[in-house]
Amino acid sequence: METQVKQIGIVGGTGYTGVELLRMLAVHPEVEVNCLTSRSEAGKLVGALYPWLHAYSDVMFEAPSADALSACDLVFYATPNQIAMHDAPALVEAGCRVIDLAADFRFSDLSVWEHTYQATHAAPELAKEAVYGLPECYRETIANASLVGNPGCYPTASILALLPLVEAGLLSDTQVILDGKSGASGAGRNARTDLIVAEASDNFHAYGADGHRHGPEIADQLTHIAGQSIEVTFVPHLLPMIRGIEVTAYVSTSMPIEEVRDLYQTRYASEPLVSVVDSGVHPETRWVRGSNRCTIGLYSQRPGQLIVSSVIDNLVKGAAGQAIQNMNLMLGLDETLAVPMHALSP
Ligand SMILES: NC(=O)c1ccc[n+]([C@@H]2O[C@H](COP(=O)([O-])OP(=O)(O)OC[C@H]3O[C@@H](n4cnc5c(N)ncnc54)[C@H](OP(=O)(O)O)[C@@H]3O)[C@@H](O)[C@H]2O)c1
Repeated sequence: METQVKQIGIVGGTGYTGVELLRMLAVHPEVEVNCLTSRSEAGKLVGALYPWLHAYSDVMFEAPSADALSACDLVFYATPNQIAMHDAPALVEAGCRVIDLAADFRFSDLSVWEHTYQATHAAPELAKEAVYGLPECYRETIANASLVGNPGCYPTASILALLPLVEAGLLSDTQVILDGKSGASGAGRNARTDLIVAEASDNFHAYGADGHRHGPEIADQLTHIAGQSIEVTFVPHLLPMIRGIEVTAYVSTSMPIEEVRDLYQTRYASEPLVSVVDSGVHPETRWVRGSNRCTIGLYSQRPGQLIVSSVIDNLVKGAAGQAIQNMNLMLGLDETLAVPMHALSP
């Protein structure tokens, strides 16, 4: 039986994650993009701005319109925070499914969202129904969701780093330390002085050490998975490179390291996009550059201690690739369809 090609909308088609969505959807056999928005570039052809996106060279960016978007089967919001929360209720009401790459629908506890984002949520009822789009945790509920809050980039790398241990209740201490590093594309395409080449290259520094908004998101999810409160100390750093995230997690467990490795390898054995490396191997960001994979290494310097290193591409498994994984699940398709499985190297 022939299946009908699904109509897709992208709000924020000119940003880094929007362009990544286009790159991946260009080779997807079951969907087509029929609404692509940008307010600043409305009326321009994709080919004029992004000549490498050949499949869309004749497609025009248009200003966002509720009518055009609600005619889609599924709409991605590749926009800043606090955009989708205003639009999603009408789209969902019209029968359109929504994946928000921003943080509006990532929190089960809205008081935490409101404190973290210093705003009042515009769609609190819908936010309660939204599903956190981490397939390795919530595959079945994502498949039936009308609305998915796609996880943040640091939270994806951090939660996958700790998931098997937390699920199994094997943390001996509920304090978790996460040391994160990201390439500059994590901040999006907007011009910022601290991200120009002369400032960001040949340089390295922490930021948000007194509280970054991904900390509460990671704590919210780990607490939900553990069924008990997990406290997270999260400090991100800016790497002098374009793509890639590495998170090093420091936790306590009484389980010996070889048993922890067995636990992780068993937990992730059937996951198509998570790999656990052998003892003594350290994952590198270039192993996942351009791919939708998370690669994890496990270490211990003394009994009772576990160190986990987790790498992803922030724009792929940390954003657009994971969003397409979620879209595939929601449309009843093979989860890995059009999702890059292998890295670009060198
Ligand atoms: N970059 C990453 O690695 C990464 C990883 C995970 C999650 N995310 C999240 O994904 C979202 C997009 O990130 P990005 O890096 O792609 O951002 P970006 O490069 O700054 O792009 C933002 C896009 O949103 C559009 N936009 C901005 N304000 C809008 C509004 N009020 N209404 C409609 N469209 C609007 C912009 O186009 P116009 O202004 O022309 O309309 C642009 O296309 C953000 O919420 C970000 O936190 C990013």
